[in-house]
Amino acid sequence: MIGNFFEIPSEHYWLKFDEWVQKFGPICSFTTFGKTVIIVGSPKVAADLLDRRSAIYSGRPRWVFASEILARNMHVGTINAGEKHRRFRRAIHAGLHPKAIASYHSIEEREARAFLRDVSRRPEDFRNSIKRYTAAVILGTMYGHQVTTFDRDRFAKRVFKSASRFAGSLAPGAFMVDILPLLRYFPAWVPGTSWQRKAKEWAKDDQNLYIELREAARVNHLTQPSFISEGLNESEYGVSEEELAYIGGTISQTPDTLMAVTSGFMLAMTKWPEIQQRAQAEIDAVVGRERFPTFSDRERLPYTVALVKEVCRWRPVAPLSVPHASTQDDEYMGYFIPKGTTIISSIWSIHRDKGVYAEPEAFNPDRFLDENGREQNTEESRVLGHHLYGFGRRLCPGATMADHAIWVFVAHALWGLKVQPFCDEKGQEIYPTVDPLSFTSGGEASHPRPFKCRIELREGVREILDDIYEHEPDVLSD
Ligand code: HEM
Repeated sequence: MIGNFFEIPSEHYWLKFDEWVQKFGPICSFTTFGKTVIIVGSPKVAADLLDRRSAIYSGRPRWVFASEILARNMHVGTINAGEKHRRFRRAIHAGLHPKAIASYHSIEEREARAFLRDVSRRPEDFRNSIKRYTAAVILGTMYGHQVTTFDRDRFAKRVFKSASRFAGSLAPGAFMVDILPLLRYFPAWVPGTSWQRKAKEWAKDDQNLYIELREAARVNHLTQPSFISEGLNESEYGVSEEELAYIGGTISQTPDTLMAVTSGFMLAMTKWPEIQQRAQAEIDAVVGRERFPTFSDRERLPYTVALVKEVCRWRPVAPLSVPHASTQDDEYMGYFIPKGTTIISSIWSIHRDKGVYAEPEAFNPDRFLDENGREQNTEESRVLGHHLYGFGRRLCPGATMADHAIWVFVAHALWGLKVQPFCDEKGQEIYPTVDPLSFTSGGEASHPRPFKCRIELREGVREILDDIYEHEPDVLSD
């Protein structure tokens, strides 16, 4: 079935793709600049093609500006399938296997407590507190670098900037050189090649950032071993120091995705206080009011685990994931799929498949629990119960770590905070809008647009925070 390329809007185009999926079925296609693009819109088709035939569907389309020029062919998320991709994934696995992930828990718990401290000091500035949390988790675990003051930190702002530029460069049509690759060989004085200056400057900036981060990891190793510092000392990673710097650089771009999910959680809690209260009742019964939650409580908190899954399903922050590309001709359900086809997994549609997720627009964590309130995943989905982290050999290698970083944030926020709708001057509660257009669109992760809420500390929390942080400076101040 063919959708029309010219119908695709410049914003929130996953909603248009979803319209096509509803109209034409879970596999439909369009052509752009002579290339076939397939949209995959159901968990079954995604599993059939991207998981079961992952040997064929694990390539990436070509991004000349972002992948080849900016990242110098060392961005693991955008390089094509092949020997280098396998080697990079092996190196990442060495730092993200289950034992390594467990060793990051103490950093994640520390930073979640610091999030409560920040919000207790400036509740209206909760978005910046979330931002600091996400940067601190990634830079702490990956480089042993502690982010105390977001604005004054050497790296925190720079990683967000680098991520935003990279993601923006992946957007379709962002740079002509992606449509006409030969442009990269034109001299800089030829009209229409001004992008070359930008490319040079951004590539240098990124290279400097990644090398500085790698060197920080080396220095921090004695006090705080990390993914990158272990890689510098272990031949098992199988990559050069330069490649390791770029692998770290790819990962340093992930705080924005964590921020999008945790902000989505805050929005959902503002909108649905009854769900917040139910999760708080579970936490209070298991953790009590005398101490912070920890990872050792997780198994006994199935409702919070389900809540995280529902936040990820309901408004997927990567609504179209990252496109895959086929590396050989194939046939599926009677359709011929030529080598080089771009495959877009429409996570937005996949998470709205009524056969798997009943009443998909409802925000309902219970869908991930059985009748006894125990964790259960939906039929088609795997480990995490949803598809936010993609498929096959390109499945996000940070999925479990990200899931843990989100869960411990959620557990602390529920334990320590009461999130309520904003009140206008007449004392009327104003509930935020949560429709799909109230989320951002663009190359980066899709965040809730800024919304207002009232945040108060729950009983006893201020005293516990004061005990710990009495002598620390206000970390959000300039
Ligand atoms: C909420 C947070 C995150 C989300 C929503 C997310 C989502 C994704 C998605 C959708 C993909 C593409 C999957 C595909 O092509 O099928 C991906 C790839 C990737 N992610 Fe994540 N991710 C997150 C956090 C992380 C973290 C914390 C790390 C590392 C510690 C990480 C490392 C990567 C890497 C290296 C790739 C490229 C994999 C490849 O192309 O082989 N991500 N992620």
